[in-house]
Amino acid sequence: MTYSIRSLAKEDLAQVNAIDREAFPNQWPPANYRQELQNRLAHYIIASDDSRTVDSPPEKPPNRLLRLASRLIPWLKRTDTTQAQPPQPYIAGFSGIWMMVDEAHITNIAVRQPYQGRGIGGLLLIATIDLARELKASFLTLEVRASNLVAQNLYSRYGFNKTGLRRGYYLDNREDAIIMSTKSIASPAFQAQLQQLRESLSRKLSQVSK
Ligand SMILES: CC(C)(COP(=O)(O)OP(=O)(O)OC[C@H]1O[C@@H](n2cnc3c(N)ncnc32)[C@H](O)[C@@H]1OP(=O)(O)O)[C@@H](O)C(=O)NCCC(=O)NCCS
Repeated sequence: MTYSIRSLAKEDLAQVNAIDREAFPNQWPPANYRQELQNRLAHYIIASDDSRTVDSPPEKPPNRLLRLASRLIPWLKRTDTTQAQPPQPYIAGFSGIWMMVDEAHITNIAVRQPYQGRGIGGLLLIATIDLARELKASFLTLEVRASNLVAQNLYSRYGFNKTGLRRGYYLDNREDAIIMSTKSIASPAFQAQLQQLRESLSRKLSQVSK
C-alpha cells in the first residue's frame, strides 16, 4: 500500500470532518476546516491511500425548488447545478499547523482508526516538519492531552520534548495539556535524526504494505 501527501483542498473537507469526528468525538469547540482553508496562517496536509478512492458528494445540494417545478411543469428543462464529481482519493489521515512568526504550532493530527499503527502518523509528522521548514519556522510546538500516551510517544520519537503544562486546557473535560516542542528544526543534529527516522519509516511502510 502506498500513501500520498498533499495540501488539504475543498474537496477533502467531508472526509477530514469525518476523521476529526472519529478521532476527537468530544472535542469542544469542534474544528472548522472550511474556515481553516481561508486562514492564511493555517496549512493542512492529508495522507491518502493510493489504492482506494471514495465517491465525493455533489458540490452543491440539489435545488429543491427547481426539482419541484420540473415535476409540475414537465417541459421545464432541469438545469440544476448538481454535477457528479469524480471519485476522490481516500484520506487516511491529516495534520495541520498554524504559522506564528517562527513557530509552527501543530493544531491537529489524526489517522483513521483502521489505519492506525501503520506509520501514517509518522509520515504525516515528517511531512508537517518538512512543511514547517519550507515555511521558515524555527521550531514546532503542540499541546497534547495528558492521557494521550500514544500521541506523546509518537511526538517524542520525532524529536518533541515536554516543555510545559497547561492546567485544565481542554474545555470538554478540563484535562491538562502537555506542551511539547522541538529544538531548532534547521539544526544539523535535528535534520540528521529526521533523516534516520525517514529511512526507518520508509522500511516500516514497505513492510506493512507487503
Ligand atoms: C496519534 C495518531 C495520529 C498516531 O497515528 P498512527 O498512524 O497510529 O501513528 P504511527 O503508526 O506512525 O505510530 C504510532 C505509534 O504508536 C503505536 N500505536 C498506534 N496506535 C496505538 C494504540 N491504539 N495503542 C498503542 N500503541 C499504538 C504504533 O504501533 C506506533 O508505535 P511503533 O512505531 O513503535 O510501532 C493516531 O493514533 C490518532 O489519530 N489518534 C487519535 C487522534 C489523536 O489523538 N491525535 C493527536 C492529538 S494531539
